[in-house]
This record gives sequence, structure tokens and C-alpha cells, in this order.
Amino acid sequence: MRITLSVIKADVGSIDGHLKPSAELVKAVKEHIQQKGKELIIDFYLTTTGDDVALLLTHTQGKDSEKIHKLAWDAFLAGTKVARKQGLYGAGQDLLADSFSGNVKGLGPAVAELEFEERENEPFLLFAADKTDPGAYNLPLYLGFADPMYNSGLILSPKMSKGFKFTVIDVNCTTADRVIELNVPEDLYDLASLLRDNERYVIESISSRNTGEPAAAASTCRLRNIAGKYVGKDDPVMLIRVQGEFPAAGEVLAPYSIGHYVAGFMRGSHTGPLMPVTSRSATSFFDGPPLVSCLGFCVREGRLTEPVDCFDHPFWDYVREKVSRKSLELREQGFSGPAMLPYAELEYGGIVEKMKMLEPRFRLRKK
Ligand code: F6R
Ligand code: MG
Ligand code: MG
Repeated sequence: MRITLSVIKADVGSIDGHLKPSAELVKAVKEHIQQKGKELIIDFYLTTTGDDVALLLTHTQGKDSEKIHKLAWDAFLAGTKVARKQGLYGAGQDLLADSFSGNVKGLGPAVAELEFEERENEPFLLFAADKTDPGAYNLPLYLGFADPMYNSGLILSPKMSKGFKFTVIDVNCTTADRVIELNVPEDLYDLASLLRDNERYVIESISSRNTGEPAAAASTCRLRNIAGKYVGKDDPVMLIRVQGEFPAAGEVLAPYSIGHYVAGFMRGSHTGPLMPVTSRSATSFFDGPPLVSCLGFCVREGRLTEPVDCFDHPFWDYVREKVSRKSLELREQGFSGPAMLPYAELEYGGIVEKMKMLEPRFRLRKK
């Protein structure tokens, strides 16, 4: 059976600033999907990560379906209504347009979709990150799909012998989708050259070169480019098919043991290590640290199994301790150097005003 997996996520309000949506908000979003999605979707699952609500929908409408996107948009509107009623912070924050028009892309919510003919058994992973941006997935995707140090299947499995095709998007280009396709292993160094710059070049999708099948899709929107000002970080979602011609679930998960430094954290303006957490975790320390959750499912004729919470395992407690340590080490230097993002990436405009104000106070002194 040919199905589409759509994950659509938004922050439409949370308790205590940007920490976690309320139970009542989550209930309203869920009930909307249950009631209005009956005829349209086959199955769904709702999860939260930090202050974001992610909806996983299975259906046969294909990618970019207006009906599916509108269902999610309206569900987030229902959540916003509750957020307003409860006085939650940032009510409706990610719904940047006044009304829905055709597709949630460019309207605020993040979306990632995969359409494929189901294999006999179809395992996949759903990732959701908070207090960071889409570039956060660059390194783990590179290591999980292109590096035999993490993906042993590249050496051991004939099903991955030809490697993978990466589609990378230049998120700074707002007039059109500026994309490049790179085949690994041949283009490995070129891919690494682009992925060095997580704030500009972001992996949008990956497919198998052995079968041509889609393997991964990640959301790549930049809210700042849509709204023209700071409205929160982009908190990306991602879907990855695993096993067989794709990396094993554990190979995709392995790079998250690094706790690599990403952009985000407090006010979307700092550097912090990405902490793998259980689903429905809140953010805490310094509005972070940047979080990533992962749920594993199998799907059959569009019906989902219950999820496995992939980072809910004693191994990841050890990683979380390491990441906490890395967080503290960088946080000790506050605003200085690499602890705070470079000027162009700061998400608040205040500093621009401050620099303008200081300008006339500079004077030139003779050498
Ligand atoms: C990060 C984030 C938070 C807020 C911070 C201040 O993406 O959303 O760290 O930036 O809590 O929020 P405001 O400016 O809304 O008071
Ligand atoms: Mg938020
Ligand atoms: Mg968020």
C-alpha cells in the first residue's frame, strides 16, 4: 500500500514561558484530529517536545496535501484557543498567517513528509527537537547515513553498498528553494563542506541509491525568514525509515550520543549541546538545553503501532549527564565568544539598537 507519513509541529503556547504546553491544550489538539480527521487520515499520534506539539498523521493524500495541512492547522488553532483561555505564554506563536492558504509551509508550523510503498515491515523514527534549528540534524544525519564509523551497515550490508543521495537546501535563499543533490560516498567531502555551516545549509531529504526509496525528510523552515523578526527558533521535526536498505534504528540514534553543540538555547541566541530526552520532556535550564526526542514506530496499511521511546533507556542517562556537563562548561562563559551566537544569528533585535546607540560614543584617537 502507498502511504504518506506527515509530521507537522507548532508551538502554540506553553506554561511558564517556553517550557511545555498544558495538558488541556494538548487535549484540544488531539480531539480536533480525532473528530475532524476521521474521513481523511488512517491513524495519528501526538507527542510534545519542550514547548512544541508534533502531530504524526498517516494517510493516502500524498505530500503537501491541502486537506491534511489544513487539518493540522485547524487543530493548532483549537490549541491556540485553549492557550488564550488559560493565559499560556506565546499563544498561537507559530501560526504566523491570519488564515490558512493551501499549505502550512511558509505559514509557521514545521513539516516533514515521506510518501512510499510500504515494505512488508515498515519501521521508522520520528524526531522532534526544541530550542534549536534545522541544522541540528546535519551532523547526526551525516554520521548515521554516510560514515561507517557510525553506520556499520555501509561496510557490512550489501543493501547499502551504493550509499545515499543527500538533498541540501540553502535556507538563506528566500526567493526560491535553492537546493543541491550530493551522492555519497563520491561527494562526501563536498557534503561535509556544506554541512560545516549548519545555519545556512540544511539536509532536507535523503534517499537510498540502491533502491531509490526515500529514507529521510526533515523540516527546514526558518521562522525568522517568514516573519521578518524573531518569533522563536525553528524546532525541527524529522522522519527516518530504518532497517534493510536504510541504516538500522540504532545506527541513526548512535550520533546523538555526542551531544554536539547546536544553535538555540536561551532566546535562540546561544550555543548548547543537543540533549537526547524522552518524549514529552519540558525544557528547563537556561530555556534548554536544546532537546531532541525520538519515537520509533512500525506502520502497516497506515496503522501505527504504539511507539518506542528511543531515548528512554539507561544508556541515555549517561549521555544526558555528559550533555549537562557540556552545557555547564560553555554556560560558564555567559555571553563571551562561542557561548553566544555570532551577530547575524542573534534572534533578538535589541543588540542592533544598542550598537547604533553606542556608535556616536566612539572617537578616533591619534596613534
Ligand atoms: C527560545 C525561546 C525562549 C525565549 C525566552 C524569552 O527559542 O523561545 O528562550 O526566547 O524565554 O522569551 P520572551 O522574549 O518571549 O520573553
Ligand atoms: Mg517557544
Ligand atoms: Mg519550541
